Amino acid sequence: MKKIFTTLAAIALVLPMVAQPKLNKDNIDEVLAAMTLEEKATLVVGSGWGSMIAGITGGSQILVSGAAGTTQAIPRLGIPNTVLADGPAGLRINPTREGTTRTFYCTGFPVGTAIASSWDVELVENMTKAMGNEVLEYGVDVLLAPGMNIHRNPLCGRNFEYFSEDPVLSGKISAAYVKGVQSNGVGVSIKHFAGNNQETARDHNDAQISQRALREIYLKNFEIAVKDADPWTVMSSYNKINGKYTQQSYDLLTKALREDWGFKGIVMTDWGAKDGTVDAVKAGNDLMEPGMPFETQRIVDAVNNGTLDVKDLDRNVRRLLEFIVRTPRFNGYKYSDKPDLKAHAAAARAAATESMVLLKNDDNVLPLKDVKNIALFGATSVDFVAGGTGSGNVNKAYVVNMVQGLENAGFKLDESLKDYYKKYVDFARIDARDIPNGGSVGILLGEAKIAEAPVAKSFVESKVAANDAAIVIIGRNSGESEDRRVEDDFDLSAAERSLLTNVCNAFHLAGKKVIVVLNIGGVIETASWKALPDAILCAWQPGQEGGDAVADVLTGKVNPSGKLPMTFPVQFVDHKSSFNFPLGNEPTGKSDFSFIGDDTRNTVNHVDFTKYEEGIFVGYRWFETFGKEVSYPFGFGLSYTTFDYSKPTVTVAKDGTVTAKVIVTNTGKVAGKEAVGLYVSAPAGGLEKPAKELKAFAKTRLLAPGESQTLTFSVKAYDLASFNEQANRWETAAGTYTFGFGRNVRDIPVSFQAVIKNAATFAVSK
Ligand code: BGC
Repeated sequence: MKKIFTTLAAIALVLPMVAQPKLNKDNIDEVLAAMTLEEKATLVVGSGWGSMIAGITGGSQILVSGAAGTTQAIPRLGIPNTVLADGPAGLRINPTREGTTRTFYCTGFPVGTAIASSWDVELVENMTKAMGNEVLEYGVDVLLAPGMNIHRNPLCGRNFEYFSEDPVLSGKISAAYVKGVQSNGVGVSIKHFAGNNQETARDHNDAQISQRALREIYLKNFEIAVKDADPWTVMSSYNKINGKYTQQSYDLLTKALREDWGFKGIVMTDWGAKDGTVDAVKAGNDLMEPGMPFETQRIVDAVNNGTLDVKDLDRNVRRLLEFIVRTPRFNGYKYSDKPDLKAHAAAARAAATESMVLLKNDDNVLPLKDVKNIALFGATSVDFVAGGTGSGNVNKAYVVNMVQGLENAGFKLDESLKDYYKKYVDFARIDARDIPNGGSVGILLGEAKIAEAPVAKSFVESKVAANDAAIVIIGRNSGESEDRRVEDDFDLSAAERSLLTNVCNAFHLAGKKVIVVLNIGGVIETASWKALPDAILCAWQPGQEGGDAVADVLTGKVNPSGKLPMTFPVQFVDHKSSFNFPLGNEPTGKSDFSFIGDDTRNTVNHVDFTKYEEGIFVGYRWFETFGKEVSYPFGFGLSYTTFDYSKPTVTVAKDGTVTAKVIVTNTGKVAGKEAVGLYVSAPAGGLEKPAKELKAFAKTRLLAPGESQTLTFSVKAYDLASFNEQANRWETAAGTYTFGFGRNVRDIPVSFQAVIKNAATFAVSK
C-alpha cells in the first residue's frame, strides 16, 4: 500500500503542470484516459469500514457518522467520495455525534416482510419516497437496500428484511421500493445478489441450486427489479452459488445481470474482502466494499504482471464514474441534516397499518366494540419489536410500544400488568446488555429479544373481572449472522404457550374475548394454538410507530388489507427446504450443526454447502403441487368487510401478452381494500410446472360498501416461461392456461381459461 501512496504523491506533485480534466457527466472518457493505474485501482476499492475517509485524500474525516462505507475521492480529477449506508427499514447512521448536541435520528419504517404484505406497490413507493428523502438530507448517496432474497425457509435470520417466498411479489415490491427511494436523486443497492437465503456460514456457504430454480426463483425477483426500476447499484452476496463466489461470477454479474437484463449501474461486494479480488474485477464486480488497501494492490499488481487486462479495469472504472456523476455529493447538493421526521413518521404509520394481516376474527370480535379496559399480556407489550437487528436496524428516536399505542387510542390498561412487564423488561435488559449481542453494539445494531415473562395462572385469573377483554402479544426478533431456531422461536416457548392457554381459559370462562397480536419478523408455528384465541392479528415488525399502528387496526380506524407474502406451514418440517436447511447455528460461527429429516449427507459438523434439493418447489409451489396441509396459505388475509369477485376475463394478444380482468365488489358493511393474486396453471406437455404460480397481482382502492372496481393484470408470454436447462433457454408452452383470481393461493373464487396459440422461446446469454 505504501507503494501506491508514494506513487500517488509523486503524481500529485508532477501532474498539476499538465492540464487536468475535472469530472463532469460529459467528459468521462477524458477523465478515464487521464487516470493512472493506481488511481483506477483506488476508485474500484472503497475507503474502509464506516465512512472515515483516509488514504489517498490525505488525513481523515468522517463523512456521515455511522454510514457503512464510501467510495474514494481523487481530488485532482474532481472525483469526490460518495457515501453508502444501510438499510432496508430506513437509513442507518449514528444518531449522535461528537462535538454537537444535535441528533441525527432516522425513521424506523416497517420491515420488508411487512411492506410486502401490503401487496400495494403504490403504498410502498410512497413510503420509500420518504425513506429516500432521509438518505438525501443526511448526505448519503446510496441506501444499501432493499434486501430481497427469497424466503426459502422460515428460519433465515434475515427474512424480516426480505419480501417473500414468491419472486413476482418480491420483484414488484422491490421495484416500487427502488423507484420511491431513487425519486429523491439518490441510489439504492438491491441485495444480496444472490442465493443468500441463510445466515449460517453466510460468508462461504455454497448454495447449490439448479439452473432452473436459480433463474425462476432466486434471480427472477432481481430481474424484475432491474428491468422495472433501474437500480443504481446491486450488492453481490457473501456466498457462493454452485462453487463460485457470486462476486466472482461472470455468468451472474455480466451475462445474466447486464447482457440478459440490461443492468446499467455498478455492482459492489457485500462488506468484507475475499481472496480473488482480481476475479471479481473480471466478473464485473465494479466496487470492493468496504475496501482494503491490499485489494488495491492486488489489482495494480495483476495489471502489471499481465493477469488482469486493463480493459476489464477500465470498464469497471467507467461505470464507477458514471455512477459518481449521478450522486448528490458530486452534484454539490447542500443537505440539511433535518429531514421532516414528523411527516415520515406518519408515512411509516400508514404503511404499517396497510401491511398488517388479520389471520382470524371469530364473531367479528375485531374491530373492538364495547371494550374500554384491557388486560395486555406479554413482555413484548413493553419490549416492542419495531424492526430486526444487524445492518437492518435503524437508530430511531423512539418506538411507540403497545402500551402507549393502546393508551393513545383511549383504552384503559390494567395497571398491575403494565407495571409487572415494565419491571421485568427493565431487569431483563440489564442482563441482556451483558451478553455479546447487547451493550453498545446492541444499541447500534438493535437488541436481542427478551424471553417471555412467567405469569402465574392465578395472576391471570385475577385480571378477568376488571377487564373487558385480553390482548396477548407474542414477539420475535432476529438478524444478521444467525439463523432462527425451531425451539422457542419458530415454535412457541413453554412460557408463551402457558400464558396463551391460561389467558384464553380464564377470559373465555367469563365470556370475554382474547386477541393475539403477533409482533414478528418471520413465520412462526400457529397450527397448534390458533384455535385458542378469538382473533389473531399479525402486525409484523411495523416500525417505530408500531403501537399506534396496531391500535389503528384493532379499533377499525384502518380496515386491515394485508395478506401473507409467504406460507405459514403446520410444522417447520413441512417445508421441503427444512430437510437441508442448517440448524443449530451459533452466533460465534461454531460448527455444532445438526440436521433433521432423513438427509444425512450434510450431517458433517460444518456447513460448507446447502443443497437446494427442492428445486423450484419453494414455499407455496411445494405445498400446492404436492397437496400438503398448511396453517395459513400464501396470500391469506381477512378484512372487516367481504369482497365478491365477478366477471373474470382473459384476452391474449397476437404476441402472447395476456390481459386479465376481474370485478371486485365490497359486499360488506365497512370500506376496505382487497388484494387479488393472478394464479396461473400451465397446460401439461411443457416442462414440469408447479400447480399454480403467482404471475401478477393488484389491489383495489378503498372501496365503500357496495362499490366495485375492475382490476387489470398484464402478463407477457415471457412471464409465463419456464427455464429449460438442457436447451439453456426460456420456454412458454402453447395450450390452455387457467388464470385464477385468488383471495389467496388456496381460495380462488373465479378463474378463466385462455389459449396461448404459439409456443415461444427466449434465449439467454451463452
Ligand atoms: C450486510 C449488508 C450490509 C453491509 C453494510 C453486511 O454485513 O450483509 O446487508 O449492507 O454489511 O453494513
